[in-house]
Formats: sequence, C-alpha cells, structure tokens
Amino acid sequence: APAPGVTLLVNGTRHHLAIGPEVTLLDALRERLNLTGAKKGCDLGQCGACTVILDGKRVNSCLVLAARAQDRPITTIEGLAADGRLHPLQQAFITHDAFQCGYCTPGQIMSGVALIEEGRGHDEAEIRKHMSGNLCRCGAYANIIAAIREAAA
Ligand code: FES
Repeated sequence: APAPGVTLLVNGTRHHLAIGPEVTLLDALRERLNLTGAKKGCDLGQCGACTVILDGKRVNSCLVLAARAQDRPITTIEGLAADGRLHPLQQAFITHDAFQCGYCTPGQIMSGVALIEEGRGHDEAEIRKHMSGNLCRCGAYANIIAAIREAAA
C-alpha cells in the first residue's frame, strides 16, 4: 500500500508529505515545503495573496486541500524564474514599480502569469476583470496592469 500522506508535484519536483486530508495546499507549501512565496492573507479565498497555478489554472491555495492537488503540476512563485532569469512578468513588475509593500506581489504575479499563459492580457478591461480577486492594499493597481500588459505584449 502507498505510504499515507500526499504527494505534491511542485515546480517540477515530487514531494511526499506525511500530512492529513485536512491540510490546505497553502499550508502544505508554506509549512511543509518552506515555499513561503504564497502568502496567507485571509485564508478565506478573498484576497488572492495565496495564488498558485495548479494544472495551468490559477487557484487560491488556501481553498484547495493538498490531497486534491495530489500528482497534479503546481507552480509557485519560487518556480517562475528559470536558469537564473526572471519570468518576463517578474521583470515587468520591477520595470513598472508594480508593488509597494510587496505582500500581495507573488499572488498578483501568479494570477497575471495564468492570464498571459492563456494568451490573454492585452486589454485593460480584461486584465482588471481577471485580477479582481487579487487585492492590493497599497493600491498599486495601475502599475500592476501596466506590467501585465507589457509582459503579455
Ligand atoms: Fe487565500 Fe486570501 S489567503 S485568498
């Protein structure tokens, strides 16, 4: 029989975690794998700070049980830069000064990457709608949108 627990495929690496069925994906990432890029803002699905990409779609990882994510590809902010190079959207966030305190930034970027990977993100209204679940208390929205538009171009 397989060992009890959950196997997660995160940023291309498989991890077997001895966790119960009640553990959220967010807690598994942060507390078991030390991947603390995804933030626990509300833990209620209302802020987007915990956004990761699961099976190519962005999810609020505080609302997903780790067991439901078993063996499905997960990308976190830690997995975006490849070969020492930032993802184009990470670079665009720097160019456009798209953060102030930075707390919401990993979730903003993962949501934006999901949009860009769907071949969208060219139109401001579409970006605003897609990003409406990612709150920024500093109000950096205009710069976030500019960064996404540039990276999607
Ligand atoms: Fe998951 Fe706020 S921590 S949406």
